[in-house]
Amino acid sequence: MTAPAASARVRQEWQNRIAAEYGSAAITQHFVLWLIQVGASPDLIDDGLAIVADELAHAQLSAEVYAAAGGTAPPAIDRRNLELPRRADRALEDDLLTAALQVFCLNETVAVPLFAHLREATTVEVARAALDRILLDEVRHRDFGWACLDWALTTPLAAGLPALAAAELPALFAGLRTNYGSDLDAPTAITDADRAWGLAPARDYARILAATWDRDYAPRFAARGIDAAPAWAAASR
Ligand SMILES: [Fe+2]
Ligand SMILES: [Fe+2]
Repeated sequence: MTAPAASARVRQEWQNRIAAEYGSAAITQHFVLWLIQVGASPDLIDDGLAIVADELAHAQLSAEVYAAAGGTAPPAIDRRNLELPRRADRALEDDLLTAALQVFCLNETVAVPLFAHLREATTVEVARAALDRILLDEVRHRDFGWACLDWALTTPLAAGLPALAAAELPALFAGLRTNYGSDLDAPTAITDADRAWGLAPARDYARILAATWDRDYAPRFAARGIDAAPAWAAASR
């Protein structure tokens, strides 16, 4: 079967995904540095390093899709997004746990159903191959975030974790809502050919985020003694 022609939207999206994967690699590497600096368990550090390698593989696969779609520009990497923010008035442990919540518990957890949805309608072989690998890896990346919290709960950080989560989650959920959108009825300009190349309309992103609260965030936080409902409700207003 010949692949449907790639639209400018397809090229733009996969070009963005290359840069996003570089960003994920850099941020995960920075996160692993912090894990080493606080003396986290070597198993956790190993898992983090494997994720850095995964993200670079995702960047390579995304570049292959971009090229197959006719893209020729270099990835537009924004260097300002390639490190984690360190707050001068906070302990490194606080910034580390905040990053774990944002990058892995929130972002990588919703990424699993999102990539599963994108992959479902993808028939262009090179895009399908990229999404096959990405989806497989995102499951481990999600689990890594919750494993970081579980590790923290075995350390003296456990006592402060519920309060830290209560303080940080409202802004983190709000940021996620901004990225995924909240308009479930937004009109779409995505065509069947775009879907075949692995794209989905904005309203699908909003729907998947909303479903992720019930399916993942609420039970996973609750299992760790964290009441995330007020933060979610505040971000959903
Ligand atoms: Fe990735
Ligand atoms: Fe990832």
